[in-house]
Amino acid sequence: MAQSIAVIPGDGIGPEVIDAARQVLDVVTDLHGIDLAYDEFDWSCRRYDETGAMMPEDALDTLASYDAILLGAVGWPGVPDHVSLWGLLIPIRRAFRQYVNQRPIAVFEGVDSPLRSASAGEVDLVVVRENVEGEYSEIGGRMNRGFPDEMAVQEAVFTRAGVSRIADHAFELARTRGSYVTSATKSNGIVHTMPFWDEVVAERAAEFPDVRWDSELIDALAAKIVLEPERFDVIVASNLFGDILSDLTAAVAGSIGIAPSANLDPTRTYPSMFEPVHGSAPDIAGNGVANPIGTVWSTVMMLDHLGHAEAAQHLMGAVRATLRDPATRTPDLGGTATTTEVTTALDGALRAGA
Ligand SMILES: NC(=O)c1ccc[n+]([C@@H]2O[C@H](COP(=O)([O-])OP(=O)(O)OC[C@H]3O[C@@H](n4cnc5c(N)ncnc54)[C@H](O)[C@@H]3O)[C@@H](O)[C@H]2O)c1
Repeated sequence: MAQSIAVIPGDGIGPEVIDAARQVLDVVTDLHGIDLAYDEFDWSCRRYDETGAMMPEDALDTLASYDAILLGAVGWPGVPDHVSLWGLLIPIRRAFRQYVNQRPIAVFEGVDSPLRSASAGEVDLVVVRENVEGEYSEIGGRMNRGFPDEMAVQEAVFTRAGVSRIADHAFELARTRGSYVTSATKSNGIVHTMPFWDEVVAERAAEFPDVRWDSELIDALAAKIVLEPERFDVIVASNLFGDILSDLTAAVAGSIGIAPSANLDPTRTYPSMFEPVHGSAPDIAGNGVANPIGTVWSTVMMLDHLGHAEAAQHLMGAVRATLRDPATRTPDLGGTATTTEVTTALDGALRAGA
């Protein structure tokens, strides 16, 4: 029976990179005899303008029956970002308990990192971001709006269950890679939640004696990622720290356009969601030059999650081959290729057995 994929292209370059990824997926699934069935949903800022809601009221019920969700990007000028994000992306992550946001990155052969010392094969790391609690909480409010004493309060929420499970995921992932975890903290400045994070991570680390680990203050960690990115393997971080760090690591790898992410429910009770790290890029939307690699790499993670490891590796090989060739890189990577040209190159590399 076919595995079902809900596709939400979203806004801006979202539909452009999703089109590209769908074409590439068709080729790789065909070559490997994999049966995926897609349904596309027009949930977006355009829909918000027309109907007053990013997605219909029963959207989460609709999505619940799918095996996976593939998303482009949401957000468009004119719709406040907190409306678009909290009207679509965040409800999906939370309702489906996608508590892991896994964001790998690597410096690929042929792609220049903005860092002189970062070279291909050396920089290869994963940010594991806590995805459903932490600093992005719904608890808080505004008072005295419009008065001089106006105020806003936003509570960060860290639970033992939440920190334990994200730490466990990071340690388990490290076992399949370089066996090294770095925990991002700020316990010198944030005196309640971050010492708690440190304690729980240390407790969980004791269950993984074969995995080396350390803890770094987030400010120093940001500097070290720039100075010695090759040092890191798995970085586990709270929602906010992980969000920021993964844009930094994407930039280290050459462009946010190549960075993928998986919003995972590791219990597999609910569908997981796969999306590039980047947003809707209104500055280049419609120009046909969006880099589709971040979305295609996200589909590699989706294929892996759906149990198609061989097809996933095949597609990753095509990504590497395409990045290696200067003629098939988009402008964000210093090239001149269009989205269509990169898609055609991926298709060719797949058929050539990359
Ligand atoms: N997960 C998401 O859907 C998500 C993530 C981040 C931002 N957003 C939303 O996207 C909108 C734009 O946000 P932003 O400008 O801060 O971030 P962005 O990621 O959209 O763009 C940042 C810069 O990177 C470039 N860029 C991004 N993706 C690229 C790609 N695939 N190829 C080539 N260049 C690419 C853009 O042109 C821009 O210069 C906002 O509404 C924001 O809320 C959505």
